Amino acid sequence: MLAVAFILVLLSCGILAWRRRNRNKDEPPTIPGALPLIGHIYLFLGIDPQQLWNTVKKEVYRTMNAGGVTSGNIGLRKVYFVTDPDDCLKIANTCLQKDDFYKFAKPWVGDGLVTADLQTWKVHRKLLTPAFNQFVLDGFIDVLNRQAHRLVKNLEVEVDKGPFDHFTYILPNGLETTCLTVMEVDFSDGGLLNSEYVHATKNMLNSMVERLVNPWLYSDAVFNWSSLKRKQDEYVKILHNMSNTVLKKRKAEYLNNKLHKGTEYTTKGPKFRSFMELLLELTIEKGVFSDREIREHVDTMLFAGHDTTSTSLMYTMLLVGSYPEVQQKIFEELHDVFGDDDRDVTKQDLSRLVYLEAVLNESLRIYPIAPVMARKLDQDIKLRNCTLLKNRTCFLWAYGVHRHPMWGPDAEEFKPERWLDPATLPKCPTAFAGFGMGRRYCIGKTYAMMSMKITLAHVFRRYRVFGNHLLMVTKFEVMLKPVSGHHIAIEIRKKSVKNET
Ligand code: HEM
Repeated sequence: MLAVAFILVLLSCGILAWRRRNRNKDEPPTIPGALPLIGHIYLFLGIDPQQLWNTVKKEVYRTMNAGGVTSGNIGLRKVYFVTDPDDCLKIANTCLQKDDFYKFAKPWVGDGLVTADLQTWKVHRKLLTPAFNQFVLDGFIDVLNRQAHRLVKNLEVEVDKGPFDHFTYILPNGLETTCLTVMEVDFSDGGLLNSEYVHATKNMLNSMVERLVNPWLYSDAVFNWSSLKRKQDEYVKILHNMSNTVLKKRKAEYLNNKLHKGTEYTTKGPKFRSFMELLLELTIEKGVFSDREIREHVDTMLFAGHDTTSTSLMYTMLLVGSYPEVQQKIFEELHDVFGDDDRDVTKQDLSRLVYLEAVLNESLRIYPIAPVMARKLDQDIKLRNCTLLKNRTCFLWAYGVHRHPMWGPDAEEFKPERWLDPATLPKCPTAFAGFGMGRRYCIGKTYAMMSMKITLAHVFRRYRVFGNHLLMVTKFEVMLKPVSGHHIAIEIRKKSVKNET
């Protein structure tokens, strides 16, 4: 007993000495309620994703009210919360290294761009950027239209049936679209993309959150012995099996000259070439990536691409269903571009769908599906009102940034019109962080916007949507996800009637 007390006293003295040494005179205000040794851990220990979101949301608002930067303690580890857009910009561009929390996803996506260490990221981001240029993306337009048609058709069974969970239609469609564009594989391709894969994706994301709320699992040494690790191994096996199998097949096809190879035009524009094919070309012609690296990039694109786009579509449809005047304006714009025709969306149409784009931006502002990003500070950073110290974790809260006073007194309101006049938008480039901040912003942004615009142009031409987003309850599951209240109802839109409301 005496020995335990002695060790505790010794430990406390050590910690006090350590903290004194690290004391930062210019430190941001600390979130109240830190307990000795454990700090704020008790606030999120073992809680479920809904409680986790409620807890962090409270701290986000507290940080906003405290001037945009606060600090907290996860055990002995000091972390920063930032919601000020200018401060976020400085941090995001000064420190490009992702925080250690991202390593939770590494068993799945390894050193793909989202989780890559800085050195790998610098080289790979440059190599991968051409795979997302407009020319390559134009080759996806046919696939995106086909997928949008399928979604519209699948939704038919819900017409006039009352509220239903539209995410159950959007998510499989989104996964299929991403698999088609990333690997040229669909549900009919050997049954690789099946419900087992979909469940493994969901379970893997949940297991990452479980690790987050159980700090004793942060250390790999402890985690590797846990039952959670054993479960993750199962999920990862399923996820890797799919990408490895497709990679093997595509590689053989490439070497046998069966893939498209090279840039080709058809009468309708550039020919479709999947992301995997472009990676194979880089690898086989220029020796750039190993098979493992290709697999990690492909897994990253599947992970970063399908759930994000599907979840954003789900929120946008719910928001549009909640504001009939917004829905009417979307429909009028669609009518101006397409008339009564339900033809495919072309590249030229996309640039004319200005209001629809404003709706998508505003929807991501209100519900940023990636509400937080984390950086590991590799140097001290002097902000306007405080200094952040090297080696600490910094949480950049897009959710808070999107509600900053620079958005005006109506920052909490859904108003797509604010995007129509650049003069009414904040000047700070990180004031909108829906696709990330600084140089590590989303590489798939143009692809995502194109894909979502095409999907919605088909959906809103065919259906009128009803919903009420104010009833929705949300949770934090790596992404911001709904728990309940997100269901919508649909009815068929009458053709040739421009003003139905
Ligand atoms: C609405 C759809 C999407 C949203 C809201 C979104 C959002 C984001 C955000 C917030 C980040 C920064 C993450 C961080 O710093 O931790 C990011 C990064 C990334 N996204 Fe997206 N994303 C979307 C769609 C896509 C798509 C379709 C792809 C690819 C097919 C993609 C691929 C990536 C990659 C590879 C990164 C890492 C970039 C880097 O570090 O260089 N995303 N995305």
